[in-house]
Amino acid sequence: MMRTPRFIQLQPIDDTLRLDDVLAGLMQPVASVSPKYFYDVLGSRLFEAITALDEYYPTRTEAAIFGAHASDMAHRFRAHAGTAFDLIDLGAGSCAKAAALFDAFAPRRYVAIDISADFLRQSIECLQRAHPAMDMLGVGCDFSACLDLPDTLYEGPALVFYPGSSIGNFAPPDARRLLAEACTAARGGGLLIGVDLVKDTAVLEAAYDDALGVTAAFNLNVLRHLNRVAGTDFDVSGWRHVARFDGAASRIEMHLEARRAVTVRWSGGERRFAEGERIHTENSYKWTPATFETLLHEAGFCEVSCWMDAQARFGVFLALPA
Ligand code: AVI
Repeated sequence: MMRTPRFIQLQPIDDTLRLDDVLAGLMQPVASVSPKYFYDVLGSRLFEAITALDEYYPTRTEAAIFGAHASDMAHRFRAHAGTAFDLIDLGAGSCAKAAALFDAFAPRRYVAIDISADFLRQSIECLQRAHPAMDMLGVGCDFSACLDLPDTLYEGPALVFYPGSSIGNFAPPDARRLLAEACTAARGGGLLIGVDLVKDTAVLEAAYDDALGVTAAFNLNVLRHLNRVAGTDFDVSGWRHVARFDGAASRIEMHLEARRAVTVRWSGGERRFAEGERIHTENSYKWTPATFETLLHEAGFCEVSCWMDAQARFGVFLALPA
């Protein structure tokens, strides 16, 4: 018999707060916009396109690591947590990455968390048809500021699944905080996380500045999104995409650079940008296996295993608490 997935929304999205947040960032001496504004409908499609680019190796490399080692990962996790556990998928989106692990891990229940409960609803309803007997729950929640799941959500220990190297979009202190929250959210289970690793600068920069210009479109699209949500009057053609690896900070930085002097206006304010002035839109931190393992220990995990591809471009870590 086919089960019916359930849905809950943990926090309402507050549009007023979003607007304040955007405008405050634009008024900073070095203007910035939170990367969460990349992901409107078009931005989400552009990100999907990025994952198919030759230059953007993380998605296919991570999938290959799971393809080769998921049963080994599942064996280690089940030896620690037992066989009755929930799979909690952070930033689930289409749910495809978690679904690919169902056979190896055989979770008792699938809990998919995403900022967009509406999109999740479609994804889970579709997934439920493919896995009619599995218990599924969709949770609308922006966990980037705080991952604090209510006890009522749990039926036992959990495997918290955070693929795609999204942890790289957090500065190290915030990443440590989120990992510590994931350690608590596992309720004695564990964390399975994908992490992009430090490598040749040319490989990194090509991944964020591809020849087709898809990442440039993804970056520039943030201005269209801001025009809609914050009432700004950005002219996209006046800006160019910039992506550089900062070795000292171990991060790719993405910026939008003004092609000429421009004044951007919105209701009650404006900001003048000189030619060449930039808006900082994203950081994507790259870790080494050793620095990420240290971060996991600092976040409260005790036992850490890591699987990598042959070129050590990407790592999947299984972290277990005591
Ligand atoms: C979502 N996140 C892991 C991507 C990254 O690689 O940092 C976002 C991205 N930005 C440009 N390309 C992809």
